[in-house]
Amino acid sequence: MPVREELSAAPVERRLRLFADGRGQGAAAHEHRLMRAARPALPVLNWLGQYARPLMKLPRLGWITSDPLVARALLNDPTHLSLLSEGGVGHLWAQVLGDWVNELFDGPGHHDLRTRSKDLFTARTSDAFVESAWGSRLSEARAHLEAGGELDLADLSRILVGRMVVTLLGTPVDASRGDDAYREIFATGEELASIALGTTSDTVLPPDKIAAARGIVERLTGHIDGAFDTAGGDTVVGRCRGLGLSPLETKGLCTLLMVAGTETAASAMARMMALLIDSGEQVRLLERPERREDTVREALRVTSPAPLIGRSVVKDLEIAGRTLRAGERVMVLTWTANNVAGAFAIDRAYQPHNRQLWFGAGRHLCLGGPLARAELDHFLTLLTGDGRPLSIVRRRYGRKVLIPAYESLVVRKHPAR
Ligand code: HEM
Repeated sequence: MPVREELSAAPVERRLRLFADGRGQGAAAHEHRLMRAARPALPVLNWLGQYARPLMKLPRLGWITSDPLVARALLNDPTHLSLLSEGGVGHLWAQVLGDWVNELFDGPGHHDLRTRSKDLFTARTSDAFVESAWGSRLSEARAHLEAGGELDLADLSRILVGRMVVTLLGTPVDASRGDDAYREIFATGEELASIALGTTSDTVLPPDKIAAARGIVERLTGHIDGAFDTAGGDTVVGRCRGLGLSPLETKGLCTLLMVAGTETAASAMARMMALLIDSGEQVRLLERPERREDTVREALRVTSPAPLIGRSVVKDLEIAGRTLRAGERVMVLTWTANNVAGAFAIDRAYQPHNRQLWFGAGRHLCLGGPLARAELDHFLTLLTGDGRPLSIVRRRYGRKVLIPAYESLVVRKHPAR
């Protein structure tokens, strides 16, 4: 098959639907277009990933894999792989935040930080964070929908995540400006994450990007120095102090939370709803509310909002019959690894070999997994609240964004039966 045809967008879209079946195809086609709008190369990489089992080497990009067992073995191997050297996310952030990141993000300090912060987000604390951050905002949105109004779920997800950032970090905000204040907080986080755009093949940042990112970090976490000693025990800053973290470690962790937990969570929220509606699975969920937890897991599997995880090889490594050389890069294609199981289906059984690869694996396994799950679970009440299905009125995919996401997803409730 000619390479040019293989890599052009339309055949890729057709082939990606192989991952779906029957009525799942419409939902899969929207997901595909969403990823293409975010980064045109992403669906191509996702599709190529099917053949990266156990591993495949690509020119310029290095090794890719979508084999969940190989992926987990790589992510669990800090001896041969690092996210600090060029090609890893730590390398990116060390240029912005300073060399102390090396200690905290992947060095011995990382283990210590993770051990001490392991209870920061449990199912219980996450539920409480969602309740206090979102307050009555979700119920207001639900009432508006149930009264027959149209609602932009993508906009709402950004507002709710903005509220979460303010609650977690204690970032000062002028709440009298209402939703706009939280939209702005979200946009600031997005701006920060966007410095990673275009670094898929090179994580060396130009000086102007470094300066811009430093300004944003200061805007979001600069208050922590002054608030550290007095922050309430229900805030992350207060909890970090209670766990024995220093102000510097707390600022580092807060930056991480901001970068890792804003766009990913908002992306998953709106995409989960689109998947439920596009696939028709919303009707099954309304009939079988006990499938709620499975629905959240399925949404995370199919959306895999962090579609790839990069590492650099720091020491030669033999794995799955291949030799990865020091200095090479490796990318775990989480989206492909998770999606080969098939289309979005709320009764799909847990995939034991994949576990929760959408949250990564090993020492950097997502710290905010329980929080993301709690956010998605609460967001579902927009659908399940009054038992009436939703329809999509119009949608727009986010363009040139790091994390594929809806720019806008306007829905309304079906008329009462
Ligand atoms: C659907 C939502 C989310 C997804 C798909 C997701 C995915 C991931 C993935 C794949 C990693 C591993 C990255 C790597 O190994 O290089 C990660 C790390 C991380 N995530 Fe999440 N995440 C989500 C939400 C959140 C939330 C809500 C928070 C907290 C507010 C959060 C905080 C973190 C932190 C702090 C790390 C770094 C952990 C470390 O390096 O030890 N994430 N996330």
